[in-house]
Amino acid sequence: MLWPSRVVTLSALASVVAAQYYEGYEGDAPMLRGPARTGPGAMLRFGCSQVVVERLDPLVDPGMAPSSHMHQIVGGNAFAASMPVTDISKLGSCTTCHFKEDLSNYWTANLYFRARNGSYKRVPQMANQFNDGDNAGITIYYTSSGPGKSTAFKPGFRMLTGDSTERKSDNLGKKMQQCYRCYTAENFGGSPNSPCMDPKLDTDYFPKQPCVGGIRSNIIFPLCWDGKNLDTPNHKDHVSHPVGGPTSFAVVTGECPSSHPVKIPQVMLEVAWDTRTFNNPEEWPEDGSQPFYLSNGDHTGFGQHGDYVFGWQGDSLQRAMDSACYLRNCSLLTGMAPTVKNLCQVPVTVKEDLDAWLDELPGGPKGM
Ligand SMILES: *[C@@H]1O[C@H](CO)[C@@H](O)[C@H](O)[C@H]1NC(C)=O
Ligand SMILES: *[C@@H]1O[C@H](CO)[C@@H](O)[C@H](O)[C@H]1NC(C)=O
Repeated sequence: MLWPSRVVTLSALASVVAAQYYEGYEGDAPMLRGPARTGPGAMLRFGCSQVVVERLDPLVDPGMAPSSHMHQIVGGNAFAASMPVTDISKLGSCTTCHFKEDLSNYWTANLYFRARNGSYKRVPQMANQFNDGDNAGITIYYTSSGPGKSTAFKPGFRMLTGDSTERKSDNLGKKMQQCYRCYTAENFGGSPNSPCMDPKLDTDYFPKQPCVGGIRSNIIFPLCWDGKNLDTPNHKDHVSHPVGGPTSFAVVTGECPSSHPVKIPQVMLEVAWDTRTFNNPEEWPEDGSQPFYLSNGDHTGFGQHGDYVFGWQGDSLQRAMDSACYLRNCSLLTGMAPTVKNLCQVPVTVKEDLDAWLDELPGGPKGM
């Protein structure tokens, strides 16, 4: 699937339409821009601004404050150190996600730059392509292959994908479950290919070279569910990738294994890190190797992972998946201007200086 050339021509219009786009949201021009529709299915793509950045992880380290490593969290304001297995859309009152109905939480590791003197600095996220006005955060995708083909998650559902301890490739070739895009030009430039599908610019390890326009991280969740469990002890066993491994996020026709026969919406997370101020080779390691670390202490990039706690109101996600909703064009759901969704926040409980130069990653060295 290609990003069509109208992306380029229309992006020049972005600043012109921005004004009316933020006010009433009638003229949501950016919803027209994005990958071309490839089939009869629904595909939502929308930005969720940061709701909090802190060392909490209600799935892996429930109740621990601080948790083992730093995360960036987006979505509903019911996020907390412990989250009950219940309908969290009823616990929260707002969300940083574009659609008001989505009080889910999504979180990933943060990225850090390590300078030659050994100090670390957090790399900020930037508003992703087509998400002007977002406050950092994550872009979320949900795809289904057609009406009636996906079963939306049940209240209380949660899952984790990836493995924070992974330091080597799964060798899945193009079927990567997580990948990095090295932008070779400003404004998300360099490749028209969809995530994890560029043979040169997408890797399951950190790019080895400076990336002129920043680095994007994509995390693809499993597509198949056992149909019974809202969660399992490792937060993974109740879900599975299709037979043969993850498919491209937009092509959700993969076959589910008999152990996990129920097809769920394909969730994908996309994070745009603004590495542009960290591209000076004088500050990179003297041997020329790349200077970035995930907050879980991973210097390879293979340990990127994503966490999800479902929190859509009622049957709103199911209805959207059974419709022709596309990108942010979904009359069944309520879109919010960035200025509105950005107001939703979770108070910080683990107080740390997020943007100082640090002697070690928050939470300590973890085997580096
Ligand atoms: C380490 O290097 C960075 C980047 O040059 C600098 O900003 C920081 O202050 C240095 N830290 C120490 C402890 O010298
Ligand atoms: C939005 O979706 C509707 C229904 O599928 C379609 O008719 C309309 O053209 C779309 N609008 C935009 C702006 O893409």
